[in-house]
Amino acid sequence: MTTVPIAMIAGIGAAVPAGVLTNADLERTLDTSDEWIIERTGIRERHIAGPSETLNSFTLVAAQRAMARAGVTASDLDGIIFATVTPDHRLPSAACELQAMLGAERAWAFDVVAACPGWLFGLSIADGLMRASLGDTILVVGAEKLSSITDYEDRSTAVLFGDGAGAAVVKRATGDGRGLLATYMGSDGNLAPLLHIPGGGSAEPLTASLLSEKKHFVKMAGREVFKAAVLAMSRSTDAAIGRAGLTPDAIDLLIPHQANLRIIEATAKHAGISMDKVMVNLERYGNTSSASIPLALQQAEEEGRLKSGMVAMLVSFGAGFTWASVVVRW
Ligand code: ACO
Repeated sequence: MTTVPIAMIAGIGAAVPAGVLTNADLERTLDTSDEWIIERTGIRERHIAGPSETLNSFTLVAAQRAMARAGVTASDLDGIIFATVTPDHRLPSAACELQAMLGAERAWAFDVVAACPGWLFGLSIADGLMRASLGDTILVVGAEKLSSITDYEDRSTAVLFGDGAGAAVVKRATGDGRGLLATYMGSDGNLAPLLHIPGGGSAEPLTASLLSEKKHFVKMAGREVFKAAVLAMSRSTDAAIGRAGLTPDAIDLLIPHQANLRIIEATAKHAGISMDKVMVNLERYGNTSSASIPLALQQAEEEGRLKSGMVAMLVSFGAGFTWASVVVRW
């Protein structure tokens, strides 16, 4: 990939449901403790949608914030790419439903299912479509209502996940050096059973017995996923930095997937990036899958940690397994 950017992030927005589930709340219903959760994950609380909140109810807010930031209106959008594993409906796509809510009548719209790195897959696809002259203004969304696929009686997953939405308006780069410098994607479907939802798809459609066996919830072999995450995030970081023609010292801010503080620390250590250059906000949101990186990116910009011209390294890993990284000059 050339380091002359074709696509740039013109505006970023985020939104989370108002409801908060703290470690203390979980202590009341599960055999767990605030101390264990903080020590093993770094998470203190997560936002959880209420019964009347759909995925697209808070995603709409994130999208509108990103569009306001970029100075575009719905009629400017050529396309919508929506990364999620928790769409409001199996049919049609979350992207088409969002298109209607926004009134983005000119836009094509489709979903990407790539779990936690889904938003980075979406950015890469937007970059590729722009190179193919298939759009100049594309909304890339990463949003999840993971509470809908979480078993709150399973302490090994219930403490990890949260709900949230992030969105970016990707536009054609202006030629001043800002934009996506490199993208990288990878997958290994052989390891799928380590992190999956066994039932509820067309292989095993929803039935009363499937629901009673809780096969519609996420199952995860945490320790194995942890090891795979460290390896894949480290390799992805190396690959994207190499493709951008940079060295780690050129990275001003590392924005990794917010799954576990220990995975983040191991990734930063491998890349030779000190923790003061790493964005961490998982203590407030938990693991929000595809929303994780845009939530952190938006916060980094808001806090002034990411300023125009700075280089950010975005890297993620998730179910599939999938992994991806993007280097962006902000
Ligand atoms: N509270 C208290 N004890 C717990 C809890 C809990 N919430 N969960 C597990 N334990 C216990 C286990 O039962 C086990 O007990 P045992 O030793 O008596 O058997 C012990 O703690 C250690 O369990 P481990 O699973 O080995 O704990 P670990 O240190 O690996 O931490 C964790 C678990 C946090 C899940 C970690 O493995 C992890 O973060 N894995 C990666 C998750 C991830 O990154 N996912 C990314 C993709 S997510 C996606 O794609 C949607």
